Amino acid sequence: MRRATGVDFTHYRQTTILRRIQRRMVVHKIDKLEDYAKFLQSKPPETKALYQDMLINVTSFFRGPRVFEALKATVFPAIQRNLARERGIRVWTPGCASGEETYSVAMALLEFLGDRASQTPIQFFGTDVSESSVARARNGVYPENIQVDVSAERLRRFFNKAEGGYRVSKTIRDMCIFAQHNVLNDPPFSRMDLICCRNLLIYLEPVLQGKVISVFHYALRPSGFLVLGSSEGLGGTTGLFAVEDRTHKIFSKKAGATHQAVAFSLNSQAERREYGPMPMPARHPDANWNYAEAQKEFDRRLLTQYTPATVFVNEDMEIIHTRGNVNRYLKLAPGKPSLSLLKMAREGLLVELRNAIAKAKKENVVVGKRNLQVKNGNGDGAAATHSTRLVNIDVIPVSLSSVKELYFMVIFQEAPQEPSRETAVRRTRATEETGAASRRTAKLEEELAATKEYLQSVIETQEATNEELQSANEEILSSNEELQSTNEEMETAKEELQSANEELTTVNDELRNRNVEITQINNDLINLLSSIDIAVIMIGSDLTIRRFTPKAQKFLGLIPGDLGRPLSNINPSIEIADLQEMVQQVVSDFRTHERELTDRMGVHYQFKILPYRTMENKIDGAVITIVDIAPDKPGIEPKSSN
Ligand SMILES: C[S@@+](CC[C@H](N)C(=O)[O-])C[C@H]1O[C@@H](n2cnc3c(N)ncnc32)[C@H](O)[C@@H]1O
Repeated sequence: MRRATGVDFTHYRQTTILRRIQRRMVVHKIDKLEDYAKFLQSKPPETKALYQDMLINVTSFFRGPRVFEALKATVFPAIQRNLARERGIRVWTPGCASGEETYSVAMALLEFLGDRASQTPIQFFGTDVSESSVARARNGVYPENIQVDVSAERLRRFFNKAEGGYRVSKTIRDMCIFAQHNVLNDPPFSRMDLICCRNLLIYLEPVLQGKVISVFHYALRPSGFLVLGSSEGLGGTTGLFAVEDRTHKIFSKKAGATHQAVAFSLNSQAERREYGPMPMPARHPDANWNYAEAQKEFDRRLLTQYTPATVFVNEDMEIIHTRGNVNRYLKLAPGKPSLSLLKMAREGLLVELRNAIAKAKKENVVVGKRNLQVKNGNGDGAAATHSTRLVNIDVIPVSLSSVKELYFMVIFQEAPQEPSRETAVRRTRATEETGAASRRTAKLEEELAATKEYLQSVIETQEATNEELQSANEEILSSNEELQSTNEEMETAKEELQSANEELTTVNDELRNRNVEITQINNDLINLLSSIDIAVIMIGSDLTIRRFTPKAQKFLGLIPGDLGRPLSNINPSIEIADLQEMVQQVVSDFRTHERELTDRMGVHYQFKILPYRTMENKIDGAVITIVDIAPDKPGIEPKSSN
């Protein structure tokens, strides 16, 4: 599949992939996977069909309508506030399928902006890995049944009537740029105010979900928003985004957060190394003296060596930057690596640190804590692990002008040691008194942490189940749509059959009537022929006998079995010279031949050969008549009766 389409499905959700393959196997009546693999290799068009099946492209206008209301309530007003700074709005809908989602967001934003829309440069980027979907999106033509999802008011305002349905108006189409783009390894768009990517992550395994979320973090402006599908979440990458609206899965970018290095490929799709290491550009030493560079380096040295140990944390207490030697106060906790300040704080700091940050956050003031007893650890180097020392901490709230999130600067400093023996005794006593309390607190905290972890795992399991259900649901929807279209095809075929059937019934009726008429004519003819006292023989154009009267039987010695036999086979009782040649002559020159015959008894007969004319005036044989012209004379005795 990767070779044929350039898309790597390795970390797409296994269950979905298997179900899609099984669907193709059913279509081709193949039972075993190996057989299907062989079939796939031998039939290149099947690869395309499977590819299209894998990219489930179910979508509709204003899918999940409440999300669009939420966008109008929370996201669009914020984007509008930023307009003065950003000079234009940019929205990206990755995995837009046939474009309905991109157009829906565009319509919702235009509705929100009203008259202001005309003064605002707005760009909507709709991308999808499927080229055929992108082509449909660009065309912007949709069937009549979009009326189910698009109100009459919107249809009137944003669509034009087109053959077989509606076309998105040119004003909106001009604002939308559609492109084929693989969100997993094509370079992302940038400076976006809003990314709306719904129902794509559900098809990916967590490893790819994380990668895509990082890409989105990179692609957004500092104040940008991300909207995901109803069953999708941020997975393990919660540090990059803050939750704005949990119900509608709206997130805002955390400006200070650092996203993982995202590998984009500018190579052709076939050459991509999807999960290989990302080559970093080598920085060549600059031979020229660069004052600004040097100053930065001096500042860095100064800050590293002479500033107190300081950490900068965000509202979630995640460390985003450090200065000085923080090892004395923080350590990496066992288990999954985490940058949470509370998980990293050395024993003795945790409770006071949390209280101080909570107070600083609540009251937006500087909070200091003095003489906290901190256990020495291996980060301290020389000190024994069981000894303690006194530490002062200061928590200073920091608000940056560009972002609304609050940050905190936490400064750790060694408290001056109190030299007097009395103080030492007092401290020992105090230590003993608080020892029992802090042991209990530590135990409670441990329990709390374990409960939290358990709760988190339950939530994750729940989310995974939800995602699985949602992707299964989408597959069902897509199968449903296929069934619907098959049904429609069958309906059309049925209608065609019905009309053909009706036509046949009328033809049948006509034929039946004609048959009755023909039977009637036939009867008349038989009666006529048997009642006339003239010998009549009808000859076909191939000179075979077609019909004759009873009188002709007598003259020419015919029996019923002679019907269909060549004229040359008969043996007439009257001498008729050159009979066959005469008939041939009449058939070819359409002229009647007439002569008188006399039998051995001297009886005269009128002998005629006429061309046989059809209704269309075509010659189809000849008619021979023999009439007794002296009926009062005694009749001749036919040869056969001798
Ligand atoms: C179920 S549709 C979602 C459409 C729309 N976002 C919605 O929610 O109505 C999923 C879309 O994701 C696209 N897709 C799958 N993998 C992709 C990738 N790696 N890059 C871009 N689009 C992808 C598929 O082609 C498909 O059109």
